[in-house]
Amino acid sequence: MLIDTHCHILPGMDDGARTWDEAIEMAQFALSEGIHTIVATPHHGDGRHDNIAEKVDLAVQELNDELETRRIPVRILPGQEVRVTKGLLLDLDAGCIRTLNHSQYVLLELPPTGIPSYFDEVLYELQVLGLTVILAHPERQLDFIVNPRLLHSYVEQGCLCQITSQSLMGRFGRKIQKFAMYVCKSQLAHLIASDAHNLASRRSHLAEAFSYLEKVQGRKALERYSINAACVIRNETIVTETIPYKRRLWSLPLH
Ligand SMILES: [Fe+2]
Repeated sequence: MLIDTHCHILPGMDDGARTWDEAIEMAQFALSEGIHTIVATPHHGDGRHDNIAEKVDLAVQELNDELETRRIPVRILPGQEVRVTKGLLLDLDAGCIRTLNHSQYVLLELPPTGIPSYFDEVLYELQVLGLTVILAHPERQLDFIVNPRLLHSYVEQGCLCQITSQSLMGRFGRKIQKFAMYVCKSQLAHLIASDAHNLASRRSHLAEAFSYLEKVQGRKALERYSINAACVIRNETIVTETIPYKRRLWSLPLH
């Protein structure tokens, strides 16, 4: 049984599910993949979507009620995918941020245009508050692709990395797939999640990615990803161990 720690399943909140029917279909598809728990992570603060904690909680409650009525055994938990902005700390102060299932883990999305100069300061402030940052899809961040050492340094500073299953399956291109595998092999990847938005172009490939990783990394690594996802929703500490940056490893061909 799998736990998905990143999914845009809440309807009408962002660029994910548009309707309640679509959200139900996404839950049914997740169940067919062996997913029993989904952390709903609508975009927040990205300039297009503002989904404050209270709004997320209400939608999660409503979706869980609907799933229960339809006897679909999938549990939805509250969360957010929070864009790193200058206003993030103010939002946190105002109670607008929902960590993953109220845990110490906050899912952050860096701006696609690049890592802002104030990110280190935000990271520091969040850590002072006892929060652990999970970087959403670092394999899609150009800054990390061109300079993997930077990702190593953020992990050394306490960040966790969450890889998107679609990246591993090559849906964002070969370069991102290759870098996603590098991140996994360097033990920089702590979580694998679907980042599903719909059932068409951005559906979950979590089960597919897990069986792929089992072949490439072995059962032990796979168990670690599952344990880590369980740690997130139970608010337990994730044990980390990384392999230092090696240029040779990054230039390895894909399996
Ligand atoms: Fe996302």
